[in-house]
Amino acid sequence: MLSLLFWCSSITIVAQKFDKLAITPPMGWNSWNKFGCDVNEGVIRETADAMVASGMKDAGYQYIVIDDCWHGARDNLGFIQPDATRFPSGVKALADYVHAKGLKFGIYSDAGAKTCGGRPGSRGREYQDAFTYAQWGVDYLKYDWCNTEGLSAQGAYTTMRDALFATGRPIVFSLCEWGNNKPWEWGGTVGHLWRTTGDIFNCFDCVKDHGAWKSWGVLQILDMQKDLRNHAGPDHWNDPDMMEVGNGMSENEDRAHFSLWAMLAAPLMAGNDLRKMGRQTRGILINKEVIAVNQDQLGIQGFKYSTRENVEIWLKPLSGGDWAVCFLNRGTKPQRIEIDWNAELIKDDFSKQELNARRSPYEIRDLWRDKRGTTKEPYEVTVPAHDVVMLRLRDINAPRG
Ligand code: GLA
Repeated sequence: MLSLLFWCSSITIVAQKFDKLAITPPMGWNSWNKFGCDVNEGVIRETADAMVASGMKDAGYQYIVIDDCWHGARDNLGFIQPDATRFPSGVKALADYVHAKGLKFGIYSDAGAKTCGGRPGSRGREYQDAFTYAQWGVDYLKYDWCNTEGLSAQGAYTTMRDALFATGRPIVFSLCEWGNNKPWEWGGTVGHLWRTTGDIFNCFDCVKDHGAWKSWGVLQILDMQKDLRNHAGPDHWNDPDMMEVGNGMSENEDRAHFSLWAMLAAPLMAGNDLRKMGRQTRGILINKEVIAVNQDQLGIQGFKYSTRENVEIWLKPLSGGDWAVCFLNRGTKPQRIEIDWNAELIKDDFSKQELNARRSPYEIRDLWRDKRGTTKEPYEVTVPAHDVVMLRLRDINAPRG
């Protein structure tokens, strides 16, 4: 009896998430936004090839994640199998292929009995599925929330967290319950990132009504991030959903979308067809200075500082006393704005960082247009419609590393 008690309590003690797998926001690609259920091993292999060839891997992208619909049926013992027509070589071979490219491999399941696409979910099979994923060499699990009536979100996600941990394999755990049960309040000890909203829709400023549910444009999702930043940080990120860059918005809108996700310290999961992307899309996705804002080691989510007509000013404190500044024009006409840095004294209560150009001037670098300046002069710029101007401010007198 005593030994049983000891066994039970030691299980409780070891149940935890695998720490330090997402010290900066995860970067990668996910199949859903572009391919939906039309996934197969050829697409995944070619995407891994393209991630390397396009320079995305060098820019920091790492994970190749297959979303819904890779599944076949469970075998006689209940082990999940891939769809044999779409994945004839099996998942292990695919994971090996991705690993051989120096990338990491991710997969998708659901806390309910079925996924959103009607494939087998993990409910009641959490340990068996986690074991299977670990054997396949999975590095990242996105875990969805369809068909979960009657389940507690915190409970269901904690069960899968424990199952993943029990495998001994480090697997990033991505919670996808759309913000319904405020995962930012409890997700930090359960997973590495959690969706804060319903699904993104491929538009800049619109709402798509599907009847029983809605999906959201970039600006709509941005607005839903209000008041969430205090919950995010290294190894526990707010996830405003995967990106639609390269899926049909204008270049300005794609640039704004990418910049805002960088400001939000959001996971950067590309959602376009990497095999066919053009120069403009690639140029946006691999802008190293914008990525550096996203991946900054302090891991502080940015915030909206002020609004002037249609232009919002977003700020993100960075390591070394730097700041990222993003002027977002939500309107459909270009807007000129002017800012006198010496008239602004910005204190961020959450991070305790201060932007004070009077104390010491900053050097300004425009991250999309390769221009420089300093905060000694008032700054004037025209922000095109549905676009951003994004800057990095560096204290001129700060010691250089
Ligand atoms: C939900 C998720 C999406 C995607 C689909 C797959 O809608 O929020 O990101 O995974 O399911 O069916």
